[in-house]
Amino acid sequence: MSTLPKTLTFDTSTSRANPTPQPMKRLTVPRIRQRKGGEPIVMLTAYTVRMAQLLDPHCDMLLVGDSLGQVIYGLPHTVGVTMEMMALHGAAVVRGSYHAAVIVDMPFGSYEASPEQAFTNAAQLLKETGAAAVKLEGGRALAPTIEFLTQRGIPVMGHVGLTPQAVNILGGYGVRGKSKEEARSIVEDSVAVAQAGAFSLVIEGVLESIAIEVTNKVACPTIGIGASAQCDGQVLVTEDMLGMFERVPKFVKRYQDMAGVVDGAVREYAEQVRSRSFPTEDQIYAG
Ligand code: KIV
Repeated sequence: MSTLPKTLTFDTSTSRANPTPQPMKRLTVPRIRQRKGGEPIVMLTAYTVRMAQLLDPHCDMLLVGDSLGQVIYGLPHTVGVTMEMMALHGAAVVRGSYHAAVIVDMPFGSYEASPEQAFTNAAQLLKETGAAAVKLEGGRALAPTIEFLTQRGIPVMGHVGLTPQAVNILGGYGVRGKSKEEARSIVEDSVAVAQAGAFSLVIEGVLESIAIEVTNKVACPTIGIGASAQCDGQVLVTEDMLGMFERVPKFVKRYQDMAGVVDGAVREYAEQVRSRSFPTEDQIYAG
């Protein structure tokens, strides 16, 4: 892995990118934590500098989710995501944002073996990206790791309920907590993660009653996805809410049809290239 710092100043004179002109003070982890029960927290995923620039003015947190495995790399699930992928995309999102707190997912296999393994990899991600915190999936079994990290200067966002990195154990992405035992287990996981020091908690793909109970029980803000509007905030995969994919999970609201917009634009371009009506004199350098 490269040891070059990845949080260099963005050179706007040599780049196509167009960052927010007035850098603002970034939201911090303590300020996010204080939002418990207050103004709902807005979080979206981002993996690239340009998307980070577009989302940043509207979001409190940008999540460099390991969902990039599917969205960017076409992997079947998040199990194949690597530290290097998270570090490179995390650094890009930090470079593209000034306002939102950036949270980077710890990839599968980078934190489960021991608190020490988690610390080494979480520290590497924070150093190489400049992000504010890491997110990791798991409940009671991961509570000692979350405590170990938070006591050593690494803020942690928890993730309970449907935990996609456990797809090989769960056997799919169905809603969690349908049985009484599983519902109780998710609540206990959430309480353990919050008590271990997580500054916020993603709760994914659970019955609404569980999300409400967890939100009422834990001291940190809950961020729902397929959970409840009663959570302290919401997160979606940006490409899902923009309509980049045909498949729309039940919990996603499509705010745009970006796949349709891209298809229309590219269709027009292809027709114009084939008919030699692009480029026109506006786009050529006449001698
Ligand atoms: O990886 C991801 O994008 C996530 C969100 C869906 C919460 O974990």
